[in-house]
Amino acid sequence: MCGIIGYTGRNKAVPYLIRGLEHLEYRGYDSSGIAVSENGEIITVKTSGRIKELKNKLSGIELRAKCGIGHTRWATHGEPDDINSHPHSSMSGLFTIVHNGIIENYLPLKKELISEGFTFKSSTDTEVIANLLEKYYEGDVLSAVKKCRNILEGSYAICILCKDFPDVIFGTRKGSPLLCGKDRQGSFFSSDIPALIPYTENIFTLGENETAVIEKEKICFYDSEGKKAEKTSEKIELPRQSAEKGDFPHFMLKEIFEQPRVLKETLDSLISGEELFPELSELKKSFFALQKICFVGCGSAYHAGLAAGILTQKLGNITCIAETASEFRYGNIPLDSKTLCIFISQSGETADTLAALLKAKEKKAKTLSVINVPESSIARESDSVIYTKAGPEIAVATTKAYTAQLISLYLFALCFAHERWQIKRSERDLLLRELRTLPEKVRKIIGQKDKAELFSTLFDGKNEGWFIGRGNDFAAAMEGSLKMKEISYINTGAYPAGELKHGTISLLDKGTPVVTLCCEERLFPKTFANIKEVKARGAKVLILAKESFAPSLTDEENVFLLPDTADEFACLLQAVALQLISYYTAEKRGCDIDKPKNLAKSVTVE
Ligand code: G6P
Repeated sequence: MCGIIGYTGRNKAVPYLIRGLEHLEYRGYDSSGIAVSENGEIITVKTSGRIKELKNKLSGIELRAKCGIGHTRWATHGEPDDINSHPHSSMSGLFTIVHNGIIENYLPLKKELISEGFTFKSSTDTEVIANLLEKYYEGDVLSAVKKCRNILEGSYAICILCKDFPDVIFGTRKGSPLLCGKDRQGSFFSSDIPALIPYTENIFTLGENETAVIEKEKICFYDSEGKKAEKTSEKIELPRQSAEKGDFPHFMLKEIFEQPRVLKETLDSLISGEELFPELSELKKSFFALQKICFVGCGSAYHAGLAAGILTQKLGNITCIAETASEFRYGNIPLDSKTLCIFISQSGETADTLAALLKAKEKKAKTLSVINVPESSIARESDSVIYTKAGPEIAVATTKAYTAQLISLYLFALCFAHERWQIKRSERDLLLRELRTLPEKVRKIIGQKDKAELFSTLFDGKNEGWFIGRGNDFAAAMEGSLKMKEISYINTGAYPAGELKHGTISLLDKGTPVVTLCCEERLFPKTFANIKEVKARGAKVLILAKESFAPSLTDEENVFLLPDTADEFACLLQAVALQLISYYTAEKRGCDIDKPKNLAKSVTVE
């Protein structure tokens, strides 16, 4: 995935492009670049590395152009060097483009273009599009775009500069998002809302295969056949101020600290008086008839689905399956109108999750999404939406958005089980009261950050470690391990504690850190036995357990006690402790905590 931006208007383009790219950097930060139309020429400046490298490169160059495009890259085809950075130009320089997505048939197209005499500089799939535009261009860019669309396979959002139209930017999309908007200073393209919010609240979302042509004072839309189309804008209500770090050294730490408030606000927003999820009244009518629920997401969102599936299955007495979106979309889980598919996504733009949703819709399954970013693609496509109230999450490794997903899904499980007559109102209310205590319990864990920092020494000088647990604790282990990998680059694995002896235990060496999640009461003796097994083989064990288990753990060296809660909700409290431990581990290793290498916040390619 990548972020793309375009500006044409009354003012110099470069500052707009750079500001836009800074808002889009969460989509990828391997390299960045801009191209502007200046005195009949298209000038491109691009570099590997972060946007600050691009700013350095631009600092000595005076560019007065008022029309240009920009790109921040998460590399797919071709390593993230200067040459593969976007923008890319066609052979003669007639067209210069930026692209978000993947052209799946770029290799045969490239071969064909080479046989026709076209030359290439990069190893990207994008350069094929630039050369194809040049091949098909006969004075009409829209018709060249249409011809390209007929043969390009895969996904793309593209912004195009053509030398013949120096003040105009053409944009088209299929699969990847592209928005545009206008203020008195000019017109904009962007991959996402945050880059447009400083200028306008009225956003146009391009549909599949649509094209927009933006000029200083107007935007024209064309349908897939190239016919002029009318489009109405949507009013976006997002805060204009961008999130600031305040006194925190990293966004991740700030976002960890925001969790008590976020969790409370999320719960409050989903409950009205005695009623849970009043806005899901239509969906609730289907609860009795449902035979299966699939929880689908990527990364941490998938882990939220894992934990939610365990609880919903238990309380709601229904088969629950949790699946990563990339497997779900090509897998064979039977789907029909008696299946509810719940799609979980912070950004609401993750390509695999979106494709999985479209598949579920095609199979007539009911769809519900748990989304943090309003107006996002997944929210728009779903039958029903639960919005979490995490606010903008800037750190690439999710913290507050993940726990907000968890608490929303826990609440959903209570609602589902009660509406389906699997638990009594009194049982629902008892669990609800417990759920309402979680924000305060999270605050207590954050208050123990020094302890988390101390326990992070377990990973000092280590390049591997394990996270183990059973049942709900295994769902927590999965997220804990991912957090550690993402930001500290330590190779950790998550395993069901009972499964270790079937192979994985052979990896264990003296001093290997093993974080054991131990909050499920009925499984405590079993997990405790697994702790003994790994300790007998030299592992250094850290135990995360409920306070009430303390008497059984007096002989253990490293125990992080968490406030007592219902077994089913403990995953959320464990997550917070594990976020802090990962954070301090990564900090000591000098890692780029908010922007870990090779990652991006929003993954809009499959
Ligand atoms: C990326 C992020 C993960 C996130 C996943 C799903 O891989 O690095 O932290 O969990 O995408 O993102 P989504 O926006 O769909 O929740």
